[in-house]
Amino acid sequence: MKKAIVVGGTSGIGKALVELLLEKNYSVGLCGIERDDLTLLKNANPQHLIIKFIDCGKENCSGEINTLVNDLGGMDLLVFSAGIGHLNKDIGYTVENPANKVNVLGFTEVVDWGYRYFHKQGSGHLVGISSVAGLFGFRTTPAYTAAKGYQINYLEALRQKAHRSKFPLFVTDIRPGFVDTEMTSDKKKFWSTSTHHAAQLIYKAILHKKGIAYVKPRWWIVGFAVKFIPNWLRSRL
Ligand SMILES: NC(=O)c1ccc[n+]([C@@H]2O[C@H](COP(=O)([O-])OP(=O)(O)OC[C@H]3O[C@@H](n4cnc5c(N)ncnc54)[C@H](OP(=O)(O)O)[C@@H]3O)[C@@H](O)[C@H]2O)c1
Repeated sequence: MKKAIVVGGTSGIGKALVELLLEKNYSVGLCGIERDDLTLLKNANPQHLIIKFIDCGKENCSGEINTLVNDLGGMDLLVFSAGIGHLNKDIGYTVENPANKVNVLGFTEVVDWGYRYFHKQGSGHLVGISSVAGLFGFRTTPAYTAAKGYQINYLEALRQKAHRSKFPLFVTDIRPGFVDTEMTSDKKKFWSTSTHHAAQLIYKAILHKKGIAYVKPRWWIVGFAVKFIPNWLRSRL
């Protein structure tokens, strides 16, 4: 039985992925802060689900995730889905830096730790949920778009390392456009999809060991087109 850890699995996309992985016969360790009630999920999967509340905004969260891995009995797949996207329009570092603690510092600690764990083990699959929003800056959410750009580049660098290693190591960058979750409840959306469908697309990308996958796939068009928008026009967005 394969073993997966989903960081940020307590709600939204991460939670839907946990549900799907359990259906697909994985043992899952999930962590997050504590927003949704997970009693039903735990009761339905008493043997195959371990829940731990870990704050990735705090240093040394990887130590706690390591304990979760030991409790689970190993790790073949690590998904980092934790993220903060509720940045209001009155931008300032007092709002942005607490988000950066999860989206940049927590992300770095967990994926770096995860990559090293898999390298030592000689196999494994690391998945980060970045965003199409990481492909350009946007005036209402400067820290969020910058953090997602950081994640995209970080995952690309790890993918290069994995490619050069002699082990079967895989690094997947999932780039959602809009998914219907708490994070986007106050936003105007298009090409949006449900968490259930997003989880299915992410699972497909994991199965096919994709380097990059857009959710939904049509968001690839935005990813491609944005490269050709001239700077004068980008400044006016
Ligand atoms: N929804 C979209 O349209 C969309 C689009 C592009 C990218 N994304 C990315 O997809 C990922 C998941 O987002 P979502 O839409 O599913 O959002 P969500 O429903 O708000 O879920 C976010 C997850 O992150 C966890 N989290 C937040 N702060 C944390 C912390 N300090 N330590 C540990 N876990 C923490 C939350 O835990 P609790 O629930 O316990 O607080 C929750 O499990 C994020 O990285 C987001 O940037 C989402």
